[in-house]
Amino acid sequence: MNGGSPEHLPINLDEYEAAARAVLTDMAFDYYAGGAEDEITLSENTQAWRRERLVRRVLVDVSCIDLSTTVLGTPISLPVMAAPCSFNKLAHPDGEIGVARAVARSGSLHIVSTVATTSLEEIAEAAPNGPRWFQLYCYKDRGITEALVERAQTAGYRALCLTVDVPVQGHRERDIRSQFHLPPGIRVANLDHPLDETADDSALNRYIKELWDTTITWDVITWLRSLSDLPIVVKGIVSPEDALLALEYGASAVVVSNHGGRQLDGCISTCRALSPIVDAVEGRLEVFVDGGIRRGTDVVKALAMGARAVLIGRPYLYGLAVGGSAGVRHVFELLEEEIERAMGLLGCTCIDAIDRSFLAGGKRGS
Ligand code: GLV
Repeated sequence: MNGGSPEHLPINLDEYEAAARAVLTDMAFDYYAGGAEDEITLSENTQAWRRERLVRRVLVDVSCIDLSTTVLGTPISLPVMAAPCSFNKLAHPDGEIGVARAVARSGSLHIVSTVATTSLEEIAEAAPNGPRWFQLYCYKDRGITEALVERAQTAGYRALCLTVDVPVQGHRERDIRSQFHLPPGIRVANLDHPLDETADDSALNRYIKELWDTTITWDVITWLRSLSDLPIVVKGIVSPEDALLALEYGASAVVVSNHGGRQLDGCISTCRALSPIVDAVEGRLEVFVDGGIRRGTDVVKALAMGARAVLIGRPYLYGLAVGGSAGVRHVFELLEEEIERAMGLLGCTCIDAIDRSFLAGGKRGS
């Protein structure tokens, strides 16, 4: 682990957050940790998982527990993927390459952000055996998005993950206070357009206003499908109606997400949004979820509600900040151990067997 790390390694994901706060600049920490406005959704995301209760079974042979599953046909060793997170080099010089290597070593899948600080090709070359998807925003200049799709396909990315919950940017007051900007030497590597370094509010805010398309509607999925055969994952869904529209427009999966509480403050927590969406799509789409997942028991609760896998974002950024690539790897290890222990205590030995019967109030076999 690097210079500013604590004497002993963090033993859970919350301890990684505390350790990251100690090594990051205030601007970087606030950018990662912050949410929109009063941060109601940000805190509700974590609290909602904690309020759910599990019903365990006993006298089940748990000597062999299998955490592996598949996402859109790709095998992963644990039901946790790395969410697309912007500007990884702000956390540590290892940046996205450190994340890619750690995620590959963990047997997981990396969803790479459009606004990465390393090019999508360099990330793919750094961990050639790790499966990855490419996250997209739709730029006003459609040629930019089109070129990204083509590059991602050529570089071996296996799906496109379209983020749909940034029609305008959420009001992130921490970033306005800190006049968020990218320090010299760190840039949006996939594109030529720099973040304005002289911004007197948040440079990201200006970037989004200037470049991202606020006019897009569901047809954007039809358009994306015309560009490539890659499966489309729609990220940022909290309503069953929108999940059904994603299905109708040909998406293969949705991520139940409120952008980590960074967009509409007061938006429903992802924990609360998840079950109605699972019920609405009736297995016709894979459903993933992110937002506030900090414990193996949170993962198990999400799977019991019907998520196929979860995404984590901030926890691996904190791991990166504290220990570079090794810190990211350790965050995945901690979560893996916690999921395995939770399954042992729950009396459940494989991912597919985690169903609503393990939730207080859940129905057996549903
Ligand atoms: C970018 O997507 C962000 O949430 O900062």
